[in-house]
Amino acid sequence: MRTLVFDTPAEASQKAFELVRESLENGSTTFGLATGSTPEKLYELIVASDLDFSQASSINLDEYYGLTKQDSQSYAYFMKKHLISHKPFKNVYIPDGEAQDIDAELARYDKIIEENPIDLQILGIGNNGHIGFNEPPADFNGRTQFIDLDQSTIEANARLFDSIDEVPTKALTMGIKSIMDSKKIILMAFGEEKARAVQKLIEGPVDPMVPASVLQNHPDVVVLLDKASAQFLA
Ligand code: GLP
Repeated sequence: MRTLVFDTPAEASQKAFELVRESLENGSTTFGLATGSTPEKLYELIVASDLDFSQASSINLDEYYGLTKQDSQSYAYFMKKHLISHKPFKNVYIPDGEAQDIDAELARYDKIIEENPIDLQILGIGNNGHIGFNEPPADFNGRTQFIDLDQSTIEANARLFDSIDEVPTKALTMGIKSIMDSKKIILMAFGEEKARAVQKLIEGPVDPMVPASVLQNHPDVVVLLDKASAQFLA
């Protein structure tokens, strides 16, 4: 893994944007995308740019289960608001958080990923080391999963809801194996609340209890940090 530490999240996001531009210019057609506060600035930079994704596909990592696509907390809504409605993609894939037949939905999403190999995957990281919504202990061989959210994730994400009772308790997520199949990965983490997870990601053993640590086994990962999230690194 290559780790780059910047003074501010804005500078790290600028670097992420340059890597996305490079990837697009080098012929990438499929982009794995993340939600959360972390990539918001990157999406702002993409929206403000002249980059053309009209021939590209986006495949999102995850979606809450039980929210409608119109719900302002759904990741479908997030992607529309922050990126897709401003920067058109040819195809936009997001797990269906309203699916009735879960097994069919998991199979549908696996097929999408199989048919559209991900050239560049954008990742954030949870305070507990999750990537996507792959909570510890993570199945390193897993494909798309229907999971129970960790209490710590529910608490961390409650800041975005009116009350913690409104945070969904289940989600659909791309599996670790599919994330690891991406050709290139950019992981961003900002703020002191991510510092312990970042330390374990980079310096800890590869351990299912820290799902992101599996990235140590990937040949092309760039980790973009700000000073606060990098504070415990040796
Ligand atoms: C969320 C998402 C992840 C995201 C992470 C961090 O729950 N499922 O994809 O990377 O947790 O979120 P944030 O960027 O808001 O800190």
